[in-house]
Amino acid sequence: MGVKRDFNRLVHYGPQTMAQPIESDPTIAPGPQGAPGGDTTHFGYRTVAEAEKAGMVREVFDAVAPKYDLMNDLMSAGIHRLWKGAMIDWLAPRAGQSIVDVAGGTGDIAFRMLERMGAAALPVTICDINAEMLNVGRNRAIDKGRLDGINWICGNAEALPFPDMSFDACTIAFGLRNVTHIDQAIAEAWRVLKPGGRWICLEFSKVLVPMLDKLYDAYSFRVLPWLGGVVAGDREAYRYLAESIRRFPDQKNLASRMEAAGFAQVKVRNLSGGIAAIHSGWRI
Ligand SMILES: C[S@@+](CC[C@H](N)C(=O)[O-])C[C@H]1O[C@@H](n2cnc3c(N)ncnc32)[C@H](O)[C@@H]1O
Repeated sequence: MGVKRDFNRLVHYGPQTMAQPIESDPTIAPGPQGAPGGDTTHFGYRTVAEAEKAGMVREVFDAVAPKYDLMNDLMSAGIHRLWKGAMIDWLAPRAGQSIVDVAGGTGDIAFRMLERMGAAALPVTICDINAEMLNVGRNRAIDKGRLDGINWICGNAEALPFPDMSFDACTIAFGLRNVTHIDQAIAEAWRVLKPGGRWICLEFSKVLVPMLDKLYDAYSFRVLPWLGGVVAGDREAYRYLAESIRRFPDQKNLASRMEAAGFAQVKVRNLSGGIAAIHSGWRI
């Protein structure tokens, strides 16, 4: 389009930059949340040292970033758009609200919010650990002619680079299963929300429809890695995707972890028979 590519500034926070591995971040509390025990955690079906996971996740998204949006459409036959639409519908963002989309990647959720909120919207903040995903997102924004309205922040969901009580709403879509300590990321969402603020999480979940689970298993462990190999040139990254989905807490478990973090009025909506689910909770 002939547009200068580095128009928007990308802000790196703290040690979680591309140059310095996130695993050395002393602000991330160690802990067993979401982990099989001790100093180990899951990376898909593999057990890895906790300190290695963030770097491994970052490598996955470095590899898939250029084809991420295309792959989302291919993998889900466009259904991820409906799920994201359902998340935004439930959140119902209004102009004047301050919102952070954590693990916002290439900006899909933020673009949708801005469209919904109209011209009077405050900038939406995107915070993602992976600078490659943010770069792809910034280029998308420029191609859409959206030269302002989004703050692109490189930071970790487990140590959000924002003061307490900064936002009216905090969202995370398909990001929570990638963090090393799920409970730490939930606690951080609660911390940065203002009282009366809301957290909404869209994530793959547990399939609740008999037979659909079998079909879905076959699709995710056979078709997805093949598609990832052909389109994105990275079969392993898409095998990780399928495995990380199976490792993620089911609807009930995630809801109780939200309550344990202090969220009130926790509610869950299943999408496509539980393939994905939206969790909503309020900081009161
Ligand atoms: C599957 S993508 C989802 C992107 C976007 N939310 C969407 O729905 O299209 C997962 C994103 O989570 C980010 N991510 C993984 N671990 C993270 C962490 N600890 N903190 C912040 N972002 C993280 C990845 O870099 C990637 O951009």
